[in-house]
Amino acid sequence: MTMKRIFVTRRIPDEGLAILREKFEVVVNEKLEPPSKDELIAGLKDADGAVTLLTDRMDEEVLAKAPKLRIIANLAAGFDNIDLDAATRRGVCVTNTPGVLSETTADLAFALLLSTARKIPQSDRYVREKNWKEAWHPMLMLGQDVHGKTIGIVGMGRIGLEMAKRAKGFGMKIVYTNEKNNPEADAIGCKKVSLDDLTESSDFISLHVPLTSETKNLFDAKRLARMKRTAILINTARGAVVDQKALAEALKKGTITGAGLDVYEKEPIEPDDPLLSLENVILAPHIGSGSLETRSRMSRMVAENITAYFAKKKPPQLLNPKAWKK
Ligand code: GLV
Repeated sequence: MTMKRIFVTRRIPDEGLAILREKFEVVVNEKLEPPSKDELIAGLKDADGAVTLLTDRMDEEVLAKAPKLRIIANLAAGFDNIDLDAATRRGVCVTNTPGVLSETTADLAFALLLSTARKIPQSDRYVREKNWKEAWHPMLMLGQDVHGKTIGIVGMGRIGLEMAKRAKGFGMKIVYTNEKNNPEADAIGCKKVSLDDLTESSDFISLHVPLTSETKNLFDAKRLARMKRTAILINTARGAVVDQKALAEALKKGTITGAGLDVYEKEPIEPDDPLLSLENVILAPHIGSGSLETRSRMSRMVAENITAYFAKKKPPQLLNPKAWKK
C-alpha cells in the first residue's frame, strides 16, 4: 500500500512532524513565508492530508484543486482561514487545536493588559533611549491600577475563562458576554451582561471571540465611542473583530486611553499603519500561543488528528462531523 502523503504548509515543531513521519510521507514547505495560492495548490495536488496555518486560505478554489485531500488539520484554535462549509460539502474533515493554547493565550492577553495599564514598553524605551535623567519623580510614567477595576471579557469560551481566572487573581471585577452562561465563569463570580453594558462599564475590555460574520467589526467607531475614555482594549482574538482604522482614530483622539494588540486586520501590519505612530498602543506580532511548550502541544495535536483519521478513527478535534459521516 502506498503511503498517504501529508503536506505541511510551513515548518512546525518537531514533535508533530516525528509522529507524522512514522506513518506518512511528509512534505514540508520549508520557506519562512506562507505559500502563495499557487504554491498551496501545488502542495495540495497529491496530498491526502494537510497541516495548515491561519495564514493559509483554504477556500473553495483551493479545495477544488485538491482532489485527494481528506483531512485538514489547522494548527490554531481559530479556523476562519478555512471555508468549513466548502470542506464539508467535499467530505474533507477539518480539525483545530483548541484547549492546549488557552492558558498561554490568556497569559499574553493579561501581559498586554498589564503592559498597557502600567506603560511597561514605554518605560523600557524611556530608560533604554537614555531619557531618564531626573531623580525619582512622582509624576513619571503614571499608568492606571488593574486591581479593583472592571474587566469586560467578550466571549467566555476556553480562552475567555482563562482570562477571567487571571483577572480574578488580580482582584478585578469581571463581566462577560457569551451566547450562553459559562457555569465555570459564573462560579468564580463573573457576571454575564449585554455587550452594551459591558462596553460602557468596563475599564478593560478583552476580546476572545472567533472571527465570524457576526463578530467582524464588532468594535467599530460607534462601539469604541461608547467605551469609557479611560478604558483599554485588548485584542488577542482576530484583528478584524475590531475596525482597525476606527481604533487608531479613537486612540489618537483620546476616545479611549489605550490598546494592547496581538492581531491585526492584515498581518503583518502595513508599514504605514497609523497604529505604528501612536504611543498609547502596544503591538505584538500575533504571538498569543507562542510558547515553546504550547506550540509543541499544538504540533502534536495536529499530528494526532491526522493519524486518527487515517486509522479510521474519528479525529478528536473534528469541527465538521458531517464530513466524517460522508
Ligand atoms: C491563533 O491565533 C489561534 O487561533 O490559535
